[in-house]
Parts: sequence; structure tokens; C-alpha cells
Amino acid sequence: MKIVVLTGAGISAESGVPTFRGSDGLWEGHRVEDVASPEGFARDPQLVHTFYNGRRRKLLEVEPNPAHRALAKLARVRGVDLTLVTQNIDDLHERAGSEEVLHMHGELLKARCNECGVVIPCREDLSRASICPACKGIDCMRPHVVWFGEVPFGLDEIAAAISSSDRFVAIGTSGRVYPAASFVSWARQAGVSTLELNLEESAASGVFHESRRGRAGEIVPLWVEEVISSVNQRS
Ligand code: OAD
Repeated sequence: MKIVVLTGAGISAESGVPTFRGSDGLWEGHRVEDVASPEGFARDPQLVHTFYNGRRRKLLEVEPNPAHRALAKLARVRGVDLTLVTQNIDDLHERAGSEEVLHMHGELLKARCNECGVVIPCREDLSRASICPACKGIDCMRPHVVWFGEVPFGLDEIAAAISSSDRFVAIGTSGRVYPAASFVSWARQAGVSTLELNLEESAASGVFHESRRGRAGEIVPLWVEEVISSVNQRS
């Protein structure tokens, strides 16, 4: 069974990583356009570095939860061909044991040089004084994350995986940020069965064939067990 799973901030919420769209419309106290756009970075690079430095430090203190672990288990099930796509920039899927994760919005634990394009692992704070290890440029490193106005990574690969899959499942995502919010429509156009697992109704709930409500840490492991028994019955 070919399954494409798309995860969003909701899957990491129970690990202690805040989701994006709080009721105040701010992202950890900032306007999104100030800290997550190329224009915001050009205007005030140090503010953006400080924001991501804080998120990076917090990420290093949290742990994956049962939902991340259940998806890692699913990938190892014989008879399941899983493509795991995440909008999250954390590494909690990897730490739970998932080996192949398509980070369409980039990765917080990587940095990229704006001059030469090199991408490097990054667990330390970045600043305007950071030096590119490849081209030795200064004031050119940025978080390897996709900002508003930039093109997400891997879209062709994701589109191909969705259209050739049997099932598309979205977990913990509000369905408000495109193109990820369109994946369910791409799946439906290709005749793929679609399922949403989310705490509450999302902007895209009505588009899915089925929508289940609950905390990811509870409903994702249950769904994974369901898939495992249906695959076992077939073989
Ligand atoms: P959001 O914060 O927009 O939505 C999180 C969703 O998870 C909401 O629908 C919540 O109801 C749900 N949720 C919260 N806690 C949950 C839990 N314990 N179990 C299950 N669901 C839960 O996050 P995303 O949809 O991931 O982009 O946001 C998409 C993109 O917007 C992000 O990747 C980021 C952001 O701007 C970029 O940075 C480019």
C-alpha cells in the first residue's frame, strides 16, 4: 500500500513545539512577515537570527512523541511504501526513527549560505558575524528554512508520490498555507483516498473523504495499528 503522509505543527505540539496560528495571529510574539520572509530578513537580519536561534535552542530540549514514533514504525512495515512529507522544520521525525523525511519547509538544524548556496548542519546560534565554512563569506548565512514568498522544496517529488499513492493522510495541519493545503485536492483529483487526523476542524476538513479528531499522540498510533492490521490481512 502506497501512503503519503503530510505532517504539520500539530504533530509536534505535544512535544512542546508551539503551533503557528495562535488566537492572537502572532508567531511567538512576532508578525510572520517580520521573521519569516526574505524582506523581513533583509530589513532586520539580526531579529530573524535571534528568533530562529531561540527556536533552535528550544528544539534541542524537546523529544519526539508517540505520533512521531508511530510513523517511524509504519515506514518499517512490510507491504507499506510510505512517503513522509513534513511542513515542520524540527527534526522530531528523524529522532523518532524515520529515515527518509521530505522537509518541504526546510530544516531548523541546517544553515545555508546566501552567497555560495552551501547547506551545512547547524546546532549553534547564527548571527551576522557567522562565516560560511565553504566560501568564507561573512554576513551571508541564513537558516535553511522556507520563508513566505519562497518556493518549498521537493514539490515535483511530492506531486508524483501523491498521484501514485493509494492513500493521502494529513496530520496536525491547519490547511491554510499553500501549496501544502492543496495536496488533498491533488490527491482527490488523482482518485486517491484521503484522511485527516487533527485536533479540531481545519480549513481543509471538508475536502477529505474522512476526518478524525483528537490529539496526534493518541489518534496517529491508533491509525497506524489499523493500517498494519489491514496490510496483514491482505498478505
Ligand atoms: P498550524 O499552526 O497552522 O496548524 C496546526 C494544526 O494542528 C491546527 O489545525 C491545530 O488544530 C492542530 N493541532 C494542534 N495541536 C494538535 C495535537 N496535539 N494533535 C493534532 N493536531 C493538533 O500549523 P501548520 O498547518 O503546520 O510555514 O502550518 C503550516 C505552515 O505555516 C508552517 O509549516 C509554517 C507556517 O507558516 C513556513 O514556515 C513556511
